[in-house]
Amino acid sequence: METNVTQVMMDEHQLILRMIDLVERKVAALEQGRFDNWQFFLDGVDFIRNYADRFHHAKEEDVLFAALVNNGMPAKQSPIEAMHLEHEQGRAHVRALEAAARQALAGNPWQIPVIVEQARGYTALLRSHITKEDTILYPLAERVLPQEVRTAMLAAYAQAEAATPGLAAKYRELVGRYERQTAA
Ligand SMILES: [Fe+2]
Ligand SMILES: [Fe+2]
Repeated sequence: METNVTQVMMDEHQLILRMIDLVERKVAALEQGRFDNWQFFLDGVDFIRNYADRFHHAKEEDVLFAALVNNGMPAKQSPIEAMHLEHEQGRAHVRALEAAARQALAGNPWQIPVIVEQARGYTALLRSHITKEDTILYPLAERVLPQEVRTAMLAAYAQAEAATPGLAAKYRELVGRYERQTAA
């Protein structure tokens, strides 16, 4: 049995999906005029930047995708290129969402439709992105990567985690806190 190198990434997807759920619920409430906590969107941007992007996407791009390319998957015109492009598209939504949420926090109500549009764009993109990784790319990685590469990959994941001590726990706590507020 070869060492699994995608379960840890799928577990991280679950926390990202919990934040996406929260964003979708807050956007729906915002559209109905029942929500004006702009700080939630700034906290969401912080989560997406630091947990989804710097932590998870960095492990994906630098370790998992790199291993696939080293083991024969083309870097261009391939699923890897498509996944990289979607990471970039996500970053653009997040930049626009942050700018709009900051202006709303400063009292500019005209930014509400921008927040709705950018947040929806991001959640739709990431849901489909995660589905493709969980159902196509990660299972493919489990089929093709040789065992000797896998040990080095787990070490590289551990190194990325050690470089950001407490980060995963901090963002699990953030998501849990907003879930409890939303349920109340
Ligand atoms: Fe990804
Ligand atoms: Fe991912």
